[in-house]
Amino acid sequence: MYPTVALSLTVCMFIACSSACSTSCVCIKDKATCRTPDPSGIVLGDNIRKVVLHDLNASFLTNNTFSANPQWSQIETLEIWANGGESLGSRVFTGLSGLTYLGYHNEHMFYMEYDAFYGLDHLKELDFSTNIRLQTSSFLISMYSKNLPRLN
Ligand SMILES: *[C@@H]1O[C@H](CO)[C@@H](O)[C@H](O)[C@H]1NC(C)=O
Ligand SMILES: *[C@@H]1O[C@H](CO)[C@@H](O)[C@H](O)[C@H]1NC(C)=O
Repeated sequence: MYPTVALSLTVCMFIACSSACSTSCVCIKDKATCRTPDPSGIVLGDNIRKVVLHDLNASFLTNNTFSANPQWSQIETLEIWANGGESLGSRVFTGLSGLTYLGYHNEHMFYMEYDAFYGLDHLKELDFSTNIRLQTSSFLISMYSKNLPRLN
């Protein structure tokens, strides 16, 4: 009995429990897949570089969501599946300074602030597919706002 408990504790220490991910996330190697309406409280392990966020409620996104915790500056690829929130607010991606790929998908969004992409200095690739209601003019103004200097 005791050796079994000790063994599973050891296994937990070296495998599952070694990554300090939030319970709303599943973390495998360098990738975290999280399911939560508000990502601002998420804690990721030091080794995480890729994040997928499901069920995010866009009305919770602010300029502090990704900037309050420095862990987000280490993330290289981020895929967001959002609902709610008719607009993408000012500077909501602040703090994601290491990001090279961003996917953002929200069928409810129809407008975005001109400086929504502020701080994405290293972004090379943007996937804005499935944003079926988004006004093209609003998107283009954000795209050409000089906030995406490295976009391919
Ligand atoms: C976020 O916006 C608020 C209100 O405009 C501002 O006071 C704050 O400095 C901003 N924070 C960041 C990290 O840009
Ligand atoms: C998103 O959050 C707002 C504010 O809490 C809430 O009114 C709305 O119903 C939520 N939307 C979805 C799709 O969960």
